[in-house]
This record gives sequence, C-alpha cells and structure tokens, in this order.
Amino acid sequence: MSGGSYTLAGPARPGTSLAYHILERQRAIPGASGDFTELFQQITLATKTIHSLVRRAGLVNVIGSTGLTNVQGEIVQKLDEFANQTIIKSVEAGGHVCVMASEENDELIPVPPESHGGKYVLLFDPLDGSGNIDVNASIGTIFAIYRRRSPVGGPGTLDDVLQPGRDMVAAGYVVYGSSMMLVYTAGRGVHGFTYDPTVGEYFLSHENIRIPDRGDTYSINEGNYHRWPEGLRRWVDWIKTPEAGSGRPYSARYIGAMVADLHRTLLRGGIFVYPGDVKRPEGKLRLLYEANPLAFIVEAAGGAASDGRGAVLDVVPTSLHQRTPLFVGSRLDVADCVAFLRGER
Ligand code: AHG
Ligand code: MN
Ligand code: MN
Repeated sequence: MSGGSYTLAGPARPGTSLAYHILERQRAIPGASGDFTELFQQITLATKTIHSLVRRAGLVNVIGSTGLTNVQGEIVQKLDEFANQTIIKSVEAGGHVCVMASEENDELIPVPPESHGGKYVLLFDPLDGSGNIDVNASIGTIFAIYRRRSPVGGPGTLDDVLQPGRDMVAAGYVVYGSSMMLVYTAGRGVHGFTYDPTVGEYFLSHENIRIPDRGDTYSINEGNYHRWPEGLRRWVDWIKTPEAGSGRPYSARYIGAMVADLHRTLLRGGIFVYPGDVKRPEGKLRLLYEANPLAFIVEAAGGAASDGRGAVLDVVPTSLHQRTPLFVGSRLDVADCVAFLRGER
C-alpha cells in the first residue's frame, strides 16, 4: 500500500451486552417476573454451545449425516441433531416453557412436570441451512417465543403452539457466519449483537435496525424457474431487465440458508422469496419456526412479509410442520413481487 494513512477501526463493542440489554427491557416492564429474561439467557447459552462446535466442525466428528431423515423426509445432519438437543436441554433446564416444537421433532416436545408452570412456548429451527455445514458456508438458528394459552400448571398443548405469528412475544435468529451474530426483537425495535469470542459474550453492534424501503438485490432459487407460477417468472424477468433510473437490474444473491439470506436483506434491503411451485404448492419453508419469526423481525424493522395472499403473520396455523410460500424484505420490493404474482402487473 502507498500514499495516505489507514487506520484499522476498533471492535464495534460499545459495551452493552445482550444479557444487560434484555435485563433493561425487563426493568422497563412494571411487575415483570424475570422469567422471559431467564428463558432468553438459556437460548443464548445454547447458541454459544452450538457455535463452539460449528467453528470446529471440520476437526471434530460433526460433519455429515446421521443416516436418519426427519418428519419432512429431509436428511438429518449430525449438527442438526446436536443443535436440537442443545436447545432442548438448555431451555428445559430454565423451566420457563410449558412445551416446545422443533423442525427436527415430529411431535410436540413435552417438558418435565416441574416445568408445567412455565408461561412461555418456544418454537425453533435448531440449524437452518444445514446443507451448508459441509462446505463451510453460513448457517443459522431461528426461534419464536409465545405466551402459553393453556392453563398454567398443566402440560403445554398443540393449541399453545398453533398461534398466529402476530401473537409472538419475541423472535430471534443467530447467524454462524464470518462472525456470530444474534438479532432479536421483543416488540421494541430490532437489535443486533455480535459475539466476542475473547469475552464469551454478545455485544450490541447494530442498534434499532431499519430495513430500507427498497433494495437492489433479489434472493431466490432460480433453478426452480420452470416450476414457478407465470407471474413470478415475469417478475424475475422484469427485475433483471435494465431500465434507466429504475434501479434495475437487481443483483442476485442466494446462499441457501434463509437466515443468512434474510440477514443480508434486513441490513441492506431487497427481497428474499421462496414461492410455492408446481412440485410444492405451499413452498418449502415452515410457517411456525422459519417464516413467522423472520417475518416478525422484518416487519418490526419496517419491512413486509407476505405469503402471496396476505401478511404471513396473520395466518392461523393448523399443523405443526405446515409450509408457506414466503415473500419477505423491503416494503416496496415485496409489493412489486406480489403484484406480479397476482397478475396485477
Ligand atoms: P433447513 O436446513 O432448516 O432445512 O432449511 C433450509 C431451507 C432454507 O434455509 C433455505 O433458504 C432453503 O431451505 C433453501 O432451499 P433450496 O435448496 O430449495 O433453495
Ligand atoms: Mn431451516
Ligand atoms: Mn433446520
């Protein structure tokens, strides 16, 4: 390098830990019991444990398949199973949930009777984008927290789990990427925390994230083009067609882990789409623990999330592993895409 001077920026660590941030939120709610704070801490702890294995994935025996398939007929990777058990055990130990549901469990995950006083319900995708593990690309964890609807004291029920996304108390995701980040919202803004491995803690690095109203990237598995509805094919053709002053053509970005694609979309704007197609009319993504929590976060950041018919968060779920088409991201980009899909443009 020659000419000028160059200063390396210091770590973005203003000093607010995730634990402190959650505690501050609790103090702002009169009469809050601290149960939510403790539940959140157990989830955070689980993500750190998962991360410790993810970063050594090529060295310890975690790469590859378990030889099993899950309820959706997908291959279960060893890390899927490790992440699933880690979250279940950690959250169970806290005693604040009355029932859980995970992508990797066919049925509801009951908790021991001593936890039947738990006020909350946890839904999660322990490891998102697990096809990326073996090739060292980004993966993630997604979670959604609801208040229980069944009477406190008994076991949690299917009714506790089948709540519309709109009723969520909090949602979050972790990206195991070039650094580990946790992004969450509990209704008062969307905040991002970067993990500092030298301290073993997440620190506030992205306060009050707002998604731009329009972006310049689109994220979709274009290999499925010939299976898509006609309107969606027209939209993709349009988004790639240059037009002066329109911002088009957009750039394509698709890593194959929704958390990573969505994280980029949240920070930079643009749109992520996983549509229904002739092979899978309701698409691939799961409503309860993939689409809903990410839709909740994006809406809280000022963006939009549609299933092509209406807001994803308004869908009343009818089954545990139900799938949904998903159009999520910048408000104006989602509106354009859905208009093409419906044949309105
Ligand atoms: P999971 O690993 O939890 O099963 O999720 C993978 C999902 C999602 O993260 C990603 O966006 C999508 O599958 C990619 O699917 P395609 O390979 O069909 O594009
Ligand atoms: Mn997933
Ligand atoms: Mn998964």
